[in-house]
Amino acid sequence: MMPLVVTLLCLCILKMGGFSASVTQASVQSDVQCLDWGVWSEGAVQVYDGEVAWLYCPLFSHPTLYSYNQTQNSSLSLLWYRHTRTHELEQPINLKLHTLHKDREYLWIQPATAQDAGLYICMLRNISSCVKIGVELEVIQRDKECDPGTRPHLNLTIPMQSDRTLECPDLKTLTLPNSTYSVTWYHLCRSELFIGNRELKGDDLVIYRMYTPYAGLYTCVVSYQMNGRTLQFTRAINITAVVANVGSKVPDILNPASDQIYTVTLGDKATLSCRVHLPHLFKEKQEIWWTIDNKTVEQLADPRFSSPEATLLSEYFGDETKERLLHVMDFSADDLQKEFNCSARNSRGFNTSRAILKSQPYVPTLELGCGLGVTLALMLMMFVVYHVFWLELLLLYRSWFGSDERYTDDKQYDVYISYARNSEEEEFVLSTLRRVLETEFGYSVCIFDRDSLPGGTITDDTLRFVGQSRRLAVVVSPCSTVRGTQALLELQAGLTSMLHGGSLRVVLIQFKPVRWKSWVKELRQARLALTLIRWQGEKSAPLSSRFWKQLQLELPMRRTTDKHMPLPDITQHTHHAENTHPGKEKLIDCYSTSAL
Ligand SMILES: *[C@@H]1O[C@H](CO)[C@@H](O)[C@H](O)[C@H]1NC(C)=O
Ligand SMILES: *[C@@H]1O[C@H](CO)[C@@H](O)[C@H](O)[C@H]1NC(C)=O
Ligand SMILES: *[C@@H]1O[C@H](CO)[C@@H](O)[C@H](O)[C@H]1NC(C)=O
Ligand SMILES: *[C@@H]1O[C@H](CO)[C@@H](O)[C@H](O)[C@H]1NC(C)=O
Ligand SMILES: *[C@@H]1O[C@H](CO)[C@@H](O)[C@H](O)[C@H]1NC(C)=O
Ligand SMILES: *[C@@H]1O[C@H](CO)[C@@H](O)[C@H](O)[C@H]1NC(C)=O
Ligand SMILES: *[C@@H]1O[C@H](CO)[C@@H](O)[C@H](O)[C@H]1NC(C)=O
Ligand SMILES: *[C@@H]1O[C@H](CO)[C@@H](O)[C@H](O)[C@H]1NC(C)=O
Ligand SMILES: *[C@@H]1O[C@H](CO)[C@@H](O)[C@H](O)[C@H]1NC(C)=O
Repeated sequence: MMPLVVTLLCLCILKMGGFSASVTQASVQSDVQCLDWGVWSEGAVQVYDGEVAWLYCPLFSHPTLYSYNQTQNSSLSLLWYRHTRTHELEQPINLKLHTLHKDREYLWIQPATAQDAGLYICMLRNISSCVKIGVELEVIQRDKECDPGTRPHLNLTIPMQSDRTLECPDLKTLTLPNSTYSVTWYHLCRSELFIGNRELKGDDLVIYRMYTPYAGLYTCVVSYQMNGRTLQFTRAINITAVVANVGSKVPDILNPASDQIYTVTLGDKATLSCRVHLPHLFKEKQEIWWTIDNKTVEQLADPRFSSPEATLLSEYFGDETKERLLHVMDFSADDLQKEFNCSARNSRGFNTSRAILKSQPYVPTLELGCGLGVTLALMLMMFVVYHVFWLELLLLYRSWFGSDERYTDDKQYDVYISYARNSEEEEFVLSTLRRVLETEFGYSVCIFDRDSLPGGTITDDTLRFVGQSRRLAVVVSPCSTVRGTQALLELQAGLTSMLHGGSLRVVLIQFKPVRWKSWVKELRQARLALTLIRWQGEKSAPLSSRFWKQLQLELPMRRTTDKHMPLPDITQHTHHAENTHPGKEKLIDCYSTSAL
């Protein structure tokens, strides 16, 4: 019963002491179960290759549990084992080696080399009980006598202007007579002549007045003779300068300042910032907190209020400026009446400051932003749609809002097609252009052919037909530029009619690329004011091509409800038009001859 209680007690105390041990029962000797405390990570020892190392058995770091003096009187004995990477089993230390030496609770290695690195296990054992713990030895190489990157064995902060005596750490452990050892001091790896405000006194280094340049890494090297060998060890102290230990050390609240106004938005989240200057005090807890009507956030226990831990904003020779935030969700009008105070405290005093609040109406920026974003996106989309489908849109618009010219004029034809009489263009005009315009779109088309009108005056007839048409479609080609041709005559007629306020509009169709230079003067002038629709061969052939859409846009509007069924209506209408207008015969002439 008793050993169990003791064991549990040990367990608790050792756990509290920061042992990172997993407690397992391991059998070392067949007859005794050994309590294994694992490895004591904090006790890990780092040593330079070739220097002296000593390992402390961590079991004795809790004298209430195990004290070395007591073990001397009891039957317990202290044993050291090694656990190398190569050997799975723990090997008893061979104390016969002249480098290894056991001294009370220490194991000395004089000197340590790379082979000595590894896990050491110290074990307390008697016939009926056993306990063990591991400690790591790390052997590090160094190129130079002094390494500025050495991990310090001790960190010290020294206030400016004050004095301090530096002792080489662990020197006391070395129980040697004076004469047989020496201590060398370095500052930032320089073996300085410590004069003036710093001085070597015996083994120690005394700083009479601390200044900023005296901060940094100090290294002391202890060397001694033993059994005819020179041994040494190195220790490092990192010194940080802090502000002089004078003046008021009461926390100073920078924000909320007395004349500062915090703007909060009703209904929105409010964040109040408290910034406090905390003068340097040695290892002292300094607190910053918010109160609402003299209640801390914890006392209030309202989920709307939260205050994360203070964060360090800046540090100057140990003086710190810290910030603590208070978040209030859904800030209400009631909250405006509350007293929001930021307070700070250390051992030297307490300060508090109230945050003056002012409210502003809630502006739903997020919602507005979203709305604006959606609007912009829509506009962009419409912009894109317009640029891709502008022809379709224009056609659609016209089909809804445009007016049918047939009801407002008394013209006979929708289009008069003017073209050069060469085989290629004739073929295009007769078999493609005319066919599509008449049968697919339902336009009435006039194509003048000189040969078809024996007897008449070409000029008069041409002018008349052109005058009876709503549009003049000029198929531009190198041939149409030849003076004195029918095509030129038609063009001139059309342009004259258009320029003199006639209700005729001229549309240019480019069947084959024509060099601008070769255009006749009339055409060149006209080109600047008129739309040129380009035939792009195969690509333009389908009815859905850009060519036909552009052309449709230039021609009078036809309200067709069904693309496949427009013909009967239009023909009827054409008949109707023919019946109500004089000059029907002539027009049919023109029409029929062109079809031939
Ligand atoms: C152990 O005994 C030594 C003398 O032998 C004494 O100096 C030391 O203070 C003792 N330690 C404890 C922890 O009692
Ligand atoms: C150990 O035993 C000696 C006598 O043998 C006694 O004087 C001493 O006080 C004991 N030490 C402890 C720590 O019990
Ligand atoms: C062995 O050590 C334990 C714990 O220190 C002690 O209680 C026990 O009496 C010792 N046994 C013997 C035989 O000395
Ligand atoms: C000294 O301070 C450094 C950080 O600057 C820290 O990593 C180290 O553990 C400290 N050493 C000791 C012995 O406190
Ligand atoms: C060690 O030196 C101190 C003075 O530094 C002296 O008082 C003491 O007697 C010396 N001890 C030995 C053993 O020489
Ligand atoms: C010494 O301490 C200072 C301040 O704490 C730190 O910036 C510096 O890195 C430390 N030097 C070493 C070698 O640990
Ligand atoms: C509080 O802060 C003020 C400045 O804000 C400072 O002057 C004062 O010393 C601080 N301490 C007390 C107790 O007022
Ligand atoms: C705030 O509350 C504390 C106790 O929590 C009390 O000591 C202090 O006097 C109160 N301060 C004011 C201004 O009411
Ligand atoms: C809040 O701070 C003001 C000074 O700004 C102080 O007068 C008041 O007593 C403080 N209130 C509390 C509850 O600490």
